[in-house]
Amino acid sequence: MSKLNEQQILDALRNVIDPDLHRDIVALGFVKDIKICDGNVSFKVELTTPACPVKDILKQQCEENVQNIPGVTSVHVEMTAQVRQRKTQTEDLLPDVKQCIAIASGKGGVGKSTMTVNLAIVLAQMGAKVGVLDADVYGPSIPMMLGCEGEKPLSHNGKILPIEKYGIQLMSLGFLLDPDQAVLWRGPMVAGTVRQLLADVDWGVLDYLLVDLPPGTGDAPMSLAQLAPLTGVVIVTTPHTVAANIASKSAALFKRLNTPVLGIAENMGTHVCPKCSHESRIFSGLSGEDMAHSIHVPYLGTVPLDPAVSNSSANGVPSVISDPNRLQAEAFRKVAKNVAAQASIVEVARKQDTKKEELVEVP
Ligand SMILES: Nc1ncnc2c1ncn2[C@@H]1O[C@H](COP(=O)(O)OP(=O)(O)O)[C@@H](O)[C@H]1O
Ligand SMILES: [Mg+2]
Repeated sequence: MSKLNEQQILDALRNVIDPDLHRDIVALGFVKDIKICDGNVSFKVELTTPACPVKDILKQQCEENVQNIPGVTSVHVEMTAQVRQRKTQTEDLLPDVKQCIAIASGKGGVGKSTMTVNLAIVLAQMGAKVGVLDADVYGPSIPMMLGCEGEKPLSHNGKILPIEKYGIQLMSLGFLLDPDQAVLWRGPMVAGTVRQLLADVDWGVLDYLLVDLPPGTGDAPMSLAQLAPLTGVVIVTTPHTVAANIASKSAALFKRLNTPVLGIAENMGTHVCPKCSHESRIFSGLSGEDMAHSIHVPYLGTVPLDPAVSNSSANGVPSVISDPNRLQAEAFRKVAKNVAAQASIVEVARKQDTKKEELVEVP
């Protein structure tokens, strides 16, 4: 039998299609370090996020396709991840942040901050370097949710160092303001403060920076979108019709700012019976899934109403850490994987667009 070669392995792996990116993993450049020793084949598959929702399926398909090549006796696949760098054309205050994802909502109290901290922790648990910027100038609540209220950040070489908690890097206006200090925010002040929180903080190298925006469609999202080109925005909504209507307005604003809407995440749409674990919808309003379909953006999942979520937020321990086996934690993990997948889709598509532009410019 002729010796196995690299081309045979690559040809077999062309049958493995990334279901989100709709291309095969060889064309996407995911296959690395192919090693062939007699019939033993090993290689790496470098995904665009450690939180890839289809990682296990892709691994299995790689193994099966290579195993089917005549002469192959064993296959070893190592799944790794390299988060793609945002493509930016304008000034970028965050060159070392690969992806910057804003979390927005039309109105307050829908669980935007809760979503931000739990998603951040899930991404960090999956191996990503994660930062959180609490840019909600009207109610910076994340220090409380992470149990580090009252901490004072240190500075180094003229830059403010984030506070590290549960494996994530956190900066909040809450650290920098006196708790009793009443601030009446005007538009230019909001923009200036957001700029400062981006530029004056030593974020280091991050795979994901999640930004908890103030509710509404005001100055903070506008200036953020201009200062640190966003990979995209996640819109959090609850099933109350009113909240849903406002959420679709904020989706429209981001589309106008040319910021991709990564999708809609619904919060508090269902309730899980503590006795029988039956999950039921509690409001009759438009669901997050219906709304996502009606405005043609991806649906990222729903997190149930669960006292464990609010209790743990109040105690400074996010619920994916305090109650990792309950349904809400599984729901946060699902939303986090979908957010990471959509962010990868946006960056890969942007890269292809740039390539097309480059091709057009060649005479
Ligand atoms: N899924 C949930 N189940 C129970 N309580 C929740 C859930 N999501 C959020 N909460 C609670 O609702 C309140 C508002 O959430 P928060 O994240 O502060 O909203 P926002 O940042 O949108 O104003 C908080 O007390 C939070 O603990
Ligand atoms: Mg909040």
